[in-house]
Amino acid sequence: MTLSHSDQAHGDAPRRPTAAELDEMTTDELATLAANLDDVEIVHNQPKFPIPGTRAEKRAERAVALWFVISAVSGLAFLLAFVFWPYEYVPPTDPGYGVYVLYTPVIGGTFGLAVLALGVGVIAYVKKFFPDEVSVQQRHDGASDELARRTVTAQLVKAGQDTTIGRRKLITRAAGGAAGVFGLGLTVAAIAPLVRDPWEGGDQAALWTTGWRPVDGETVYLRRDTGNPEEISLVRPEDQDPGSMETVFPFRESERGDEEALLHALRRSDNPVMLIRLRPGTPVVQRAGREGFNYGDYWAYSKLCTHLGCPTSLYEAQSQRILCPCHQSQFLATEYARPIFGPATRSLPQLRITVNEEGYFVALQDMDPVGPAFWERRS
Ligand code: FES
Repeated sequence: MTLSHSDQAHGDAPRRPTAAELDEMTTDELATLAANLDDVEIVHNQPKFPIPGTRAEKRAERAVALWFVISAVSGLAFLLAFVFWPYEYVPPTDPGYGVYVLYTPVIGGTFGLAVLALGVGVIAYVKKFFPDEVSVQQRHDGASDELARRTVTAQLVKAGQDTTIGRRKLITRAAGGAAGVFGLGLTVAAIAPLVRDPWEGGDQAALWTTGWRPVDGETVYLRRDTGNPEEISLVRPEDQDPGSMETVFPFRESERGDEEALLHALRRSDNPVMLIRLRPGTPVVQRAGREGFNYGDYWAYSKLCTHLGCPTSLYEAQSQRILCPCHQSQFLATEYARPIFGPATRSLPQLRITVNEEGYFVALQDMDPVGPAFWERRS
């Protein structure tokens, strides 16, 4: 059955069918009724292929299916490349370099194509098979009528009453207190940085210093992190192969046995330093004012990228470059870690090192402020 326009006075809601009438309605009629109940009139609805099974329809079907097949094949290729493609570094002079450098383009290309083809397939399906339809929804200007406003307000009030929250003084007070404390916390968090003085302590303020700062003349050793803070493994020159890099942290004898201090030294974000041993005879350029900061072929640089503070964890021995994986800044280890590529603009701070009479590496002074630039910094 259909509800005629005469069943619906102009501008009024359509007459609601009885349960019996609903039973007799087809799916199309029910869908039209749903639109009408929302004040939507379907003016035109024309299927793209009114006669099923034509050659044009099959062609369109194949075209859409092709995109999904491309997506599936690309997805599979991505999976295989991701698992089986040789990804381990191969120097440009070695066989296999050509295959290695294709790793990222291949997994990126196949993944991108899989997503792209899937998207194009969905769009193609919509364009080729969704019916042409024009619908008009009546616009209602101004505020809702009195009836709608009062009934909706009543619904909201009743919903509140049904939850019995009005009678639950304990809960409302506790919730109010929690919200108040939370709001206060947010306010304090927003205002505190404006009130606190980050330069309290003058030259010894946290932003100027690192854990390498000598205190009361005590020796600061270079140690490695073995996973156990209390296992002190100091670093000696003979521990390191030429062309290698090791991450080191500060250690003081006064902290031996003090687990908290040892852990703090390992975890403090501005402490990690890369100890790099260049190959013998590698030409280097010293920075003016930093001459002698190295010990022979050993150079120590802060591990915090001067761009945004990521760990510059990669050292490429062939080119003597230190790489930051975050935004691909590169620093030259042979030239006081000056940036030669990427967004970083400052050299990595250099730690002045030597070897003491016991044969261990020690730091002679603190580094320049490490990490990203800030307004007041002096270097
Ligand atoms: S943080 Fe290192 S390049 Fe951005």
